[in-house]
Order: sequence, then C-alpha cells, then structure tokens
Amino acid sequence: HLVSSTPLLQAARANGYCIGAFNVHTLEMLQAVVEAAEELEAPLILQTTVGTVKHLGPDYIVAAAQTAAKRAGIPIALHLDHCTDFNLVVRCIREGYTSVMIDASMHPFDENVRQTIEVVKVAKAAGVNIEAELGKVGGVEDDISVADEDAKLADPEECVKFVELTGVPTLAPAIGTAHGIYKGEPKIAFDRLEQIYKLVDVPLVLHGGSGIPEEQVKRCVSLGMGKMNVATELRIAFSDAIKAVFNNNPDENDPRKYMVPAKEAVKALAKEKMIMTGCVGKA
Ligand code: 13P
Ligand code: ZN
Ligand code: NA
Repeated sequence: HLVSSTPLLQAARANGYCIGAFNVHTLEMLQAVVEAAEELEAPLILQTTVGTVKHLGPDYIVAAAQTAAKRAGIPIALHLDHCTDFNLVVRCIREGYTSVMIDASMHPFDENVRQTIEVVKVAKAAGVNIEAELGKVGGVEDDISVADEDAKLADPEECVKFVELTGVPTLAPAIGTAHGIYKGEPKIAFDRLEQIYKLVDVPLVLHGGSGIPEEQVKRCVSLGMGKMNVATELRIAFSDAIKAVFNNNPDENDPRKYMVPAKEAVKALAKEKMIMTGCVGKA
C-alpha cells in the first residue's frame, strides 16, 4: 500500500539524504519512475499537479499508484503537488493520496497560516503528509505562474513561526530555485537555506528541481533539503523521445512502440536524479 511521506522524509532529514519526487502525467511515466526507484532501491514520492488530477482523475491515479506500491519492494507515497483548493485536497485524501501540498504562498503570511492549518487538521487525522510553501518559487507550474521579479525568498524567522503555528510536518521554503528550465544558472541562497535548516526541525522540500546543476543539488542536500521535486525535465525527456520516433517514422501508429523509448528516457532521467540526491539504497 501507499505510505505517508512524513516518515520517509523524516528518515531523509535524520540521515542527510534527499528523496526524489517526480511529477507524472501518464501511466508510462509512473511506471518509469517506479522501475527506476525499484532498481536503485530508493524510496519514492510520486506526485501529480492539480492539472494532472483533472486530466486523469484522482481515482485512476490512486489505483495506478496503489498497484505500483503493491508490486514494488520499496516504499511509495503519492503526493498532490501545488494545490490551492481546499476541497480538492480533501477529495484527493479521500481517494487515497498519502501526501498533499496546500500552496497558499501567494497569500499574505497570516492567510497562508490559516489555510495550512485547515489542511493540517484533516490530513493529519487521515495519516496523510502535508507540505506548505513559504516565500514564492518563481516560474510556471501548471496554472501557477510567478514572474521572476515576484519570486521571493522565504524568511527564516517566518519559517519558524509558520511551523509552530501550523504544525505542518514538511516545509518548502523558497530559496531562489524556479519551476521550469533556467536561463543560465539558478541563484540559490545557500546561506538562507542553512539558516532555515538550523532553525526549523521539519524536513525541507526543494522545488524547481529541473535544470539545477548537480553540484548545486548536492549542496542543497548537504544543507538539509530532504525532498527534490522534478517535473519539467521529465516532460521534456518523455516528449523528445516520442518526437524522435515520429521524426524517424512518421507512420508509426502503435503506442506500445512509440511509448517505449519515452518510458526509457524518463526512467534514465529519474535514476540520474536519485543518484544526485543520494537516496539510492535507502528504501
Ligand atoms: P521543475 O519543473 O523545475 O522540475 O519543478 C518541479 C516542481 O517544483 C514541482 O512542484
Ligand atoms: Zn513546485
Ligand atoms: Na527548475
């Protein structure tokens, strides 16, 4: 069965590694990251954005993830990524998600606290992990778009207050990474991350994992990031592989053929990220 990501992330924090959390949109993508995690004996967080929940249906997603969890010899959690809608959070918990993000980072601090407390109440009662965001992660993720000039680093003192007030078990502090592929290199505020890690005792989440150079990912992990979200790079790998098939053979019409290299590309990329974040062999 699917497990809550809270104990997985607590173990990651306690032992200084970071778990890969992968946004999937199709059955093949889900199978690809599950196979990658199994082969590397890594704990796994599968995640879907609100857009994917609407596209596939939460019941289909939960059924596929549960099947993966039943078959796989590794712990798997299913996480709802960047949800701004309390009702959808509740629906996904009812369907069987084992982790949810309430993203009220676009609101003032007090409103973010208020919305997060509401979710913490229902999710904790259901044994489900909760993630919230402080500061604002830049870039585009589904319907949430934050211009570079509006991106905002998390304030360490606010992080302390936020965790105290909400009881949230995992926190995503914005530290300068962004959703999507970077123009140039991300400017990560490592000093800020270090401060937050020292002040706050819950596991921390790194958003915007696509495009962060390996050295910077490793530095984030060494400074306490316990979960890294990867979305855009997986979509690109999946789509590029399909494009290559059709470029070479425009008449291809069998999904069982053209999906194979796409799945392999996602699997290889997921493995790369798991090796980078140090969660290999931690299942
Ligand atoms: P990327 O699209 O940059 O990988 O960001 C993923 C993410 O943070 C999902 O919440
Ligand atoms: Zn994100
Ligand atoms: Na990114």
